[in-house]
Amino acid sequence: MISRFRTPLPEQGAAASEVIQQMVDKARGGIMRTSGGRSFAWVIGGTLPAALAADWMTSVWDQNAALSACSPAAAAVESVVGSWIKELLGLPVDASFALVTGCQMAHFTCLAAARHHLLAGKGWDVERRGLQGAPNVRVIDVSARHASVDRALRFLGIGTDAVVSMRGERCSSSSLQTVLGSQPDAPTIVLTQAGDIHTGESDAFENVILLARQHGAWVHVDGAFGLWAQASARHRHRVAGVEGADSWATDGHKWLNVPFDSGYAIVARSDAHRASMSTKATYIDSATEMREPLDWTPEWSRRARAFSTYAAIQELGRKGIEKQIDHSCQLASALVDRMGRLPRIEIVSSPVLNQGLIRVKPSNANANQEEHDSATLRVVEHLSQQGESFFQPSRWNDRTVIRVSVCSWQTTEDDIQRAVVAMEQVLRGE
Ligand SMILES: Cc1ncc(COP(=O)(O)O)c(C=O)c1O
Repeated sequence: MISRFRTPLPEQGAAASEVIQQMVDKARGGIMRTSGGRSFAWVIGGTLPAALAADWMTSVWDQNAALSACSPAAAAVESVVGSWIKELLGLPVDASFALVTGCQMAHFTCLAAARHHLLAGKGWDVERRGLQGAPNVRVIDVSARHASVDRALRFLGIGTDAVVSMRGERCSSSSLQTVLGSQPDAPTIVLTQAGDIHTGESDAFENVILLARQHGAWVHVDGAFGLWAQASARHRHRVAGVEGADSWATDGHKWLNVPFDSGYAIVARSDAHRASMSTKATYIDSATEMREPLDWTPEWSRRARAFSTYAAIQELGRKGIEKQIDHSCQLASALVDRMGRLPRIEIVSSPVLNQGLIRVKPSNANANQEEHDSATLRVVEHLSQQGESFFQPSRWNDRTVIRVSVCSWQTTEDDIQRAVVAMEQVLRGE
């Protein structure tokens, strides 16, 4: 791909249509069909038709969604979309929100609000004084956090060394109580997860939030995809109590099937959110009554990404979103179950939502762990070469596994069957 695209910096321009034609030609073979129905790798959603068209309109309109004065329509749609997302996810109606590029920046936004709130409680104005000399912020992680949370902590100057990891002790109230009580006065963030990327499991929010409240800690939820269980009557119990947290980070570009990039930060304490993000400039009318996106986001100029979320929600409606969540979970279970019936496939984790894990047993019955791992990697490679379905490997509990993730609205029962047949063929050819 690099050799195809790399040319000397062009001295002269070219006709727009020629530029595009050449770009498309060169990209051929290098565009992943990750939004298609048989891509089960990572956690990547598809794109709903209305959301895609809205995204084209967003580019055509080329609005700067920083301020309502720059784009009244973008600011208005953003306000509506924020309320709809809170309603869909069962979060407090008075929570504030920001539309950002993805869950990574949603973590950053939420944790900046947490940092403000906790340090203001200690009489420290972090926006003015920074972190030099500030009370230490302690972070307790009750689950297997996603690496994007670490990166947000790095960006915020809190640092990853501040994290006390309780991984493996998920749901243990007494151990959390002990850790919280060990430094009762420390400003504390408790990290939780709605939907683990490997297993789809979530933390016991009711317990964790209750304990955190008793210690004045801020509870943040990484709900990149799993928070969407809230939109389903069938799966809501998996994240019971999540609405009691202080902040939630989630994505539109995963389970809602909005094109990249689209993430949402939602904060119960809107005062802390605004204090951590808002900014002033001589050319901005700060007397406006409108909700100004700039007051809630880390960006200044920004894409009007509310349009595609608006279109996705309009296209599916609350019922359609619920159906999409339920259908993906059902298909993920079907895929893992049927794969598990194949002779050399072992189910490592059956989906509780839309994520599952399998691995491949080598033909040799006395195989060791390394042979298991290499058989699994080999099969993933062969599946990719075959091209009928797409999976990616991962490491989980010191084992190499194949992740099964169903997020795209395009995945059907037929896709599941085709993926199982593809796996059967690859195993037979081994
Ligand atoms: C659980 C979880 N959290 C956070 C992220 C990061 O999200 P984004 O890529 O939208 O920034 C991901 C991405 O897959 C994820 O699965």
